[in-house]
Amino acid sequence: MELNVNGKPQNYGGEPDRPLLWVLREDLGLTGTKYGCGVAACGACTVLIDGQPQRACVTPVSAVAGQKIVTIEGLDSKAGKAVQQAWTELDVVQCGWCQSGQIMTATALLTEKPQPSPDEAKAGMDTVLCRCGTYQRVNAGVARAAEILKG
Ligand code: FES
Ligand code: FES
Repeated sequence: MELNVNGKPQNYGGEPDRPLLWVLREDLGLTGTKYGCGVAACGACTVLIDGQPQRACVTPVSAVAGQKIVTIEGLDSKAGKAVQQAWTELDVVQCGWCQSGQIMTATALLTEKPQPSPDEAKAGMDTVLCRCGTYQRVNAGVARAAEILKG
């Protein structure tokens, strides 16, 4: 089957029900997407599928054939760049394990709604867990990225 990962075509000839997370990390070497729980509970493995956040640990690779898969390595949309700038400015990251999931989720949120209310931003970001407790900085990062997007 043909996959489109970060704008590049990739031929995949393995098991169709292999989780996308392992195709990305092990087959394609895109290790920026992390494994946290394996059961769609933590959000560490979030990638964008046709712009929507999706948990790669429970997504069979066959389900995303022909769709646009974007990982943290290929995140270069306007919202994605604003989020990465905000994350750097505010030094959001602690250990980093959850952060590609945080960044992908924030990007999807701000792509859909570039100026979310604080409650909307918090509700969107509450779906990704952080063992280091960076939640306040994550929320500040989303607010700063929204400011950057406003210009
Ligand atoms: S590793 Fe996929 S949601 Fe936790
Ligand atoms: S920064 Fe360590 S788990 Fe979130």
